Amino acid sequence: MDNKRSTFTGKLGFVLAAAGSAVGLGNIWRFPYLAAQYGGGIFLLVYILLAVTFGFALMTAEIAIGRKTGLSAIGAFKVLNKKYTFIGYIASIVPMIILPYYCVIGGWVTKYLAAFISGSAQNAATDGYFGTFISSAGEPVIWFLIYAGLTAIAILLGVNKGVERVSKIMMPILVVLSLFIAIYSMFIPGAIKGVLYYITPDFSKFSVKTVLAAMGQLFYSMSLAMGIMITYGSYMKKDVNLESSVKQIELFDTGIAFLAGLMIIPAVFAFSGGDESALSAGPSLMFITLPKVFESMWGGTFIGILFFVLVLFAALTSSISLMETVVSIFCDKLNLNRKITCVFVLIGTILIGLLSCFGYSIWAEVKIIGMQMLDFFDFISNSVIMPIVAFLTAIFVGYVIKPKTLVEEVELSAAFKQKTLFTIVIKYIAPVCIVLILVSSVLSAFGIIKL
Ligand code: TRP
Repeated sequence: MDNKRSTFTGKLGFVLAAAGSAVGLGNIWRFPYLAAQYGGGIFLLVYILLAVTFGFALMTAEIAIGRKTGLSAIGAFKVLNKKYTFIGYIASIVPMIILPYYCVIGGWVTKYLAAFISGSAQNAATDGYFGTFISSAGEPVIWFLIYAGLTAIAILLGVNKGVERVSKIMMPILVVLSLFIAIYSMFIPGAIKGVLYYITPDFSKFSVKTVLAAMGQLFYSMSLAMGIMITYGSYMKKDVNLESSVKQIELFDTGIAFLAGLMIIPAVFAFSGGDESALSAGPSLMFITLPKVFESMWGGTFIGILFFVLVLFAALTSSISLMETVVSIFCDKLNLNRKITCVFVLIGTILIGLLSCFGYSIWAEVKIIGMQMLDFFDFISNSVIMPIVAFLTAIFVGYVIKPKTLVEEVELSAAFKQKTLFTIVIKYIAPVCIVLILVSSVLSAFGIIKL
């Protein structure tokens, strides 16, 4: 099987494919609301520091594991050391948890696109529009079903490669458009306060929670700690420079997230005076804020349509890749037909995703450890399972197969410039920090300690 794997043609092909998986709702929807909620500049700073240390080391490790073994997560851990196959299994749970609620948010994006196309852009900019939408029992479900259906159809019809190709054209357009909207946002009267909030770290707002949120976001946004980058690495040619590919993917992913923050956070200050409740809107932040930006803009309806189309594509490439991952895990393990598996995965996605939908409407009262459903799934994957997988991966690389094994893999293509940083982060910094953060966050989620 190994030598039959098709490979990405060159470095650009690899970087684009991996960036295509990395860039999605995580950058545009999730990053801005976390940054707004966790103190702006301090969150940004912590995020960047984590990206160049943890993110760098973990992504390098995962891609190197994939390239070395030529296998996806479960197989890769098994080949390297049979006793540690379980890490691959735990990693595989993550896409299964993320996919359903990813499709729920994808549904929200689809809804906004439809609203803008049908001439309701102004309506969408009014206060309470999002709240009314999200708290109705039926509508979010319909958009969720449409979005999840689109994702499954792309896989069933095998047009996912086509979607990827289109998205490679869309991505540069998204970057340019985001830059334009970000610059526009910064100049709305009253926005400058938001720009400052976003880029100047206020150390009094620092807490363990900031680090936890930034770490979860890093994993989520860069598709780490869930086996995905191992799979991508398995398709990477031996002569492609692994280290510089990692740096480019990280730069690209962080750049888009930064721009998304710049589109949204200054606008929050401009339109709501930056009061606490506006900043901590959570998952709804982008949907509440951006229509107001578009409304205030000349030609805003058109810009809004363009924007939501581009975001929809960025989201679809991610959800297709998530669904494919889940489908292939079940196909490989249960030896099932791909199409049938895909239908089953779609049904499972719908059943679990409905929980997240209803968590905003008919089950709004239901709380699991103080969180509503979507936040709970988000918390379990990003703040619990992913840190566990990252921790296990660091221990596995640091003490079982030893960093040297992967350093050698990286050096097949070029000298490994940051090999010392890689080794120190994997062996010492990552395991210690992750345990501290994980334990304190779980204790605080259960109300045992207060952060
Ligand atoms: N990184 C993606 C984003 O930022 C989300 C994501 C998480 C993902 N895991 C993935 C995408 C696996 C594709 C495959 O939106």
